[in-house]
Amino acid sequence: MAVPSAPKRTGRAAEWDARFRASDHSGPDPDPFLVSAQEALSLLTPRATVLDLACGAGRNAVWLSRQGFRVTAVDFSAEALAKTRLLAREHGVTLECRRMDLESPSVDLGAWHLICGFFFLHRPLFPLLRQALHPGGLLIYKTYTIDRLRSPGGPRNPRHLLEPNELLRLAEGLRVLRYEEGSGTAAIVAQRFGQ
Ligand SMILES: C[S@@+](CC[C@H](N)C(=O)[O-])C[C@H]1O[C@@H](n2cnc3c(N)ncnc32)[C@H](O)[C@@H]1O
Repeated sequence: MAVPSAPKRTGRAAEWDARFRASDHSGPDPDPFLVSAQEALSLLTPRATVLDLACGAGRNAVWLSRQGFRVTAVDFSAEALAKTRLLAREHGVTLECRRMDLESPSVDLGAWHLICGFFFLHRPLFPLLRQALHPGGLLIYKTYTIDRLRSPGGPRNPRHLLEPNELLRLAEGLRVLRYEEGSGTAAIVAQRFGQ
């Protein structure tokens, strides 16, 4: 299980707190790519452990808990985690919430059967994600690409936007079970080798 890195009150965490105070940022429904990954999810044992990176208001973490998985949701925004706890209560599920700066150089992710990341990008984390998967474990990841710059709104900083095919490269060393790119996002389901 994960050992959290010391939560840090950075300026960016405070900005995200303010955003979550103003709105939920996303609705309560899980991302459609996650829901469509049922075939891959069925490879996991019913009580598999799940880490949801940068969980936001908890839509994906809560859905995964509702599937029976043991979910830990992490984010550096205390407001996001408060919303995640509330959504979990509304759905009658329990999950663990941890405040954690995923960009901290000392981040320690622990070991998981499934790691999810949606609409968060910190490139140096990817080698750690591979290591944090149990053999046979899954990575389900989706975020914006630079094509997103053609539409208004959303992130504008290239630091937070994938280049074409970049998610495939970031997942190198994992077996790619599914990859989709288009309409301003890229998404992958990949598995760590071994059982
Ligand atoms: C666009 S939201 C996505 C939320 C969620 N994954 C979803 O798809 O609904 C980005 C999330 O990343 C979190 N975040 C950004 N930088 C972070 C960091 N360095 N460590 C942990 N969380 C971070 C924000 O607080 C926010 O909740």
